[in-house]
Amino acid sequence: MWSVTETEGLPKAELYPQLLQQLRALIADEPDAIANMANCAALLFHQVPRLNWAGFYLLKDEQLVLGPFQGAPACVRIPLGRGVCGTAARDRAVLRVANVHEFEGHIACDSASNSELVLPLLRTDRSVIGVLDLDSPEFDRFDAEDEAGLTLLASAIAAKL
Ligand code: SME
Repeated sequence: MWSVTETEGLPKAELYPQLLQQLRALIADEPDAIANMANCAALLFHQVPRLNWAGFYLLKDEQLVLGPFQGAPACVRIPLGRGVCGTAARDRAVLRVANVHEFEGHIACDSASNSELVLPLLRTDRSVIGVLDLDSPEFDRFDAEDEAGLTLLASAIAAKL
């Protein structure tokens, strides 16, 4: 049985190794990509403090298509190169946006979102599988420590897709 734990006051240096361990335990023995992404989204949404959305977009025919997520219903298709997610996927680069309203071409799916962290999910040949997207109602919610911690989680889930 899974229990949500209080993580609000936990130092990030403890939070992210704990989350990586929990993610690995959730996905280790399961080959199904949808099940693994669904549990990853749930883990992040419930255990990373102050998020309003966490989930996946998967690259299909030059578009990102909505995958498993937690949060409000979201835009289903994002063209490669559009918005924060489409730009991160096109450039194969992490995008950490302190104020999404100032990001050229930002796609507003949930009006509650004010900052965003998007991590590309890459195969070993560096081709793009999709992105992992986290949104927060706080401005400037994500710092370099969040980025580093979540990059390791993104690599762990990408290896199972
Ligand atoms: N804001 C994103 C779209 C996805 S939602 O945040 C879930 C973007 O600009 O790519």
